Amino acid sequence: MNILVLGSGGREHAIAWALAKSPKCDKLYVAPGNGGTADFAENVAGLAADDGQAVLAFAQENAIDMVVIGPEAPLVAGVADVLRAADIPVFGPDAQGAQLEGSKTFCKEFMMRNNLPTAEYLSTDDEAAAHAYIDEKGAPIVVKADGLAAGKGVIVSQTVEQAHDAVKQCFEGAFGEAGSTVVIEECLTGPECSMLAFVSAGKAYCMAPSQDHKRAYDGDEGPNTGGMGAYSPVPIVTEEELARMEEVMAQAAAATATEFENDYRGVLYGGFMLTPKGPKLLEYNARFGDPETQVVLPRLNSDLVDVMLAVAEGRPDDIELEWADKWTVTVVLASAGYPGSYEKGKIITGIEDADALEDVKVYHAGTAMRDGQLVTAGGRVLNVTAMGDTFQAARELAYKACDLIQFEGKQNRSDIGLRAIKGRQSWD
Ligand code: AMP
Ligand code: GLY
Repeated sequence: MNILVLGSGGREHAIAWALAKSPKCDKLYVAPGNGGTADFAENVAGLAADDGQAVLAFAQENAIDMVVIGPEAPLVAGVADVLRAADIPVFGPDAQGAQLEGSKTFCKEFMMRNNLPTAEYLSTDDEAAAHAYIDEKGAPIVVKADGLAAGKGVIVSQTVEQAHDAVKQCFEGAFGEAGSTVVIEECLTGPECSMLAFVSAGKAYCMAPSQDHKRAYDGDEGPNTGGMGAYSPVPIVTEEELARMEEVMAQAAAATATEFENDYRGVLYGGFMLTPKGPKLLEYNARFGDPETQVVLPRLNSDLVDVMLAVAEGRPDDIELEWADKWTVTVVLASAGYPGSYEKGKIITGIEDADALEDVKVYHAGTAMRDGQLVTAGGRVLNVTAMGDTFQAARELAYKACDLIQFEGKQNRSDIGLRAIKGRQSWD
């Protein structure tokens, strides 16, 4: 099969790497790809991933048998719709399904209609109503820009003043069009847990739970980022919570089949908070998580081409998922200054040494080749992933591998997975 993966991050490197392992994968393209995918796939630098017509033309010219869409932007832009209309199997929901991620209001209404557990909220495009709701509910309270805001549109406000200020910012255009409607939400507490599921024709096949670390610095301090590290499975999740999250994902998958014009075919990512009243949804994403994918897919023993094609072709009963009985931890190596401004073009050394360690795989997130040398090309640069028979072993191995890699300004959290080792009480 000829397969095209859209995207350029660590998530896409991990997806492409897992697809390339399949004997069914003949030719693999990644558009635009990164310095890591260039090693084993063909990067297509000039192809704009969110231009449906351009992707379709490339797919037709290169006899592509399946397109896998990594990031949310092409999904929301309807790239899957264009491909599906031309009968090309595509892994990723169409624009309507992607609205679950593209509009928080759409997502909350979907959750409410289907009785899925989530925080109480108000969605409004009226600034005065937003301020009044904050005064009525008090702090802490969460203000969210409705649309896609690259992970920056959520302001968890500890005071009423901060929440009012966040609303003002949204309506003043700090998040562009994404902030012209706001969702104001009850502040939930507890550990977060990502539950990703393959969804096709109304059925959900859950992957192992994983946990991201969103804040930039140790101790969950500092600004929110795209994710600084992750692990899977999640030792602090109880059997009861796991069963409940799986039930919620199944309910949501069933609803996608009855409510949406075309059924949802791709990954549905449930972002849960494990509250004292049970798991509640913070959000849905319409794609794999980044960096959650980098800890989930390495544990998948099943052939990812088979799984993705079954999803893309609406044959959920053919999906078989077999997982390695292992623990995985990934640590993000970032550029100095991330998630703020940072410099690019720093020479990276030591990846071969890290990759040479047994059970270690370094996924590239923001790298590029320059004059034959691998250099930094993004905020999140590398995802150093290790697998082990125990959580501790995986964690220690990941950090050992991180120490072997150098670039100017290298920044990483040193406490990925530490709270999980300390136990549930560390979230109290
Ligand atoms: P999101 O962009 O929706 O993933 O939200 C970013 C982060 O904001 C989440 O990972 C949570 O840490 C936090 N967050 C979102 N909604 C809530 C909520 N209702 N209560 C507490 N924290 C929240
Ligand atoms: N790791 C968070 C996300 O992919 O949205």
